[in-house]
Amino acid sequence: MTAVVHTRTDLAAALDTHPGTGRRAVVMTMGALHSGHLLLVDAARDAVGPHGQVVVTIFVNPLQFGPHEDLDAYPRDLPGDVEKLQGRGVDVVFAPERETVYPGGDPRVTVSAGHLGTILEGAQRPGHFDGVLTVVHKLLRLTRPDVAVFGEKDAQQLLAVRRLVLDLEHDVEILGVPTARDDDGLALSSRNAYLSAQQRTDGLALSRALAAGRAAGPRGASAVLASASAVLAEVPGVRVDYLALVDPVTVEEVDPSFGGRALLLVAGRVGTTRLLDNVAVEVTALPEEGSS
Ligand code: PAF
Repeated sequence: MTAVVHTRTDLAAALDTHPGTGRRAVVMTMGALHSGHLLLVDAARDAVGPHGQVVVTIFVNPLQFGPHEDLDAYPRDLPGDVEKLQGRGVDVVFAPERETVYPGGDPRVTVSAGHLGTILEGAQRPGHFDGVLTVVHKLLRLTRPDVAVFGEKDAQQLLAVRRLVLDLEHDVEILGVPTARDDDGLALSSRNAYLSAQQRTDGLALSRALAAGRAAGPRGASAVLASASAVLAEVPGVRVDYLALVDPVTVEEVDPSFGGRALLLVAGRVGTTRLLDNVAVEVTALPEEGSS
């Protein structure tokens, strides 16, 4: 049985009356659930076992939307989401109203993502990661999980959440789950629902670019970026916001002489829809130009 609760009191009661003796995992979402979210739920269940408790939060967090991003147009389908989660054996769905999460109105004290919030995705969406971390911080406090599960598709978000937990002393394990893709390679995202057939075809350039970049890993960091960039340049329907090869822990861009495991991140717009994707790349270190 899945308990669907909307208030803090009902959430606390649902958490405390769970018959299981095991651990608790939370999956935080903004709803409009697709099969990628359901894989996060499966990972949550695996993490806590059959007697553990799996909690899914559904909340479209206004704090992480910029003034020019359409919060009202974000897809919402609570009954459809609950049906999907019931079929996946979720114990508790917490779907609060804005006033429940932010009872004092928009918060005056928020979590800052610091420098991490100002680069790459943060540079495109000022304040976004502050909004994400503020709500993640609150939802961790409200749901009190042992494990919190996040998708690797939002790589910078995942790293920011790991820093939140480290820097602000949350006693929770953060579990990253690999990106789920459609058969054609497009990373699953609630925003894919906005794409026309042509835009979807154009959007495939992102995963193709990442594949080309990964294949170029043995030729060094510059070749990774050049190969990915060449694929994107062939598709005028994609306006690239950034393409970057970064350190997987700091999200800082790596040097051309870098060797080791890096993340290749891409973000772009197809029509008015923003798409993000990333892939891990093994980069071979090449001697710096001019050195013998
Ligand atoms: O990834 C998301 O859906 C959101 O950023 C999150 C983590 C649920 C916070 O609102």
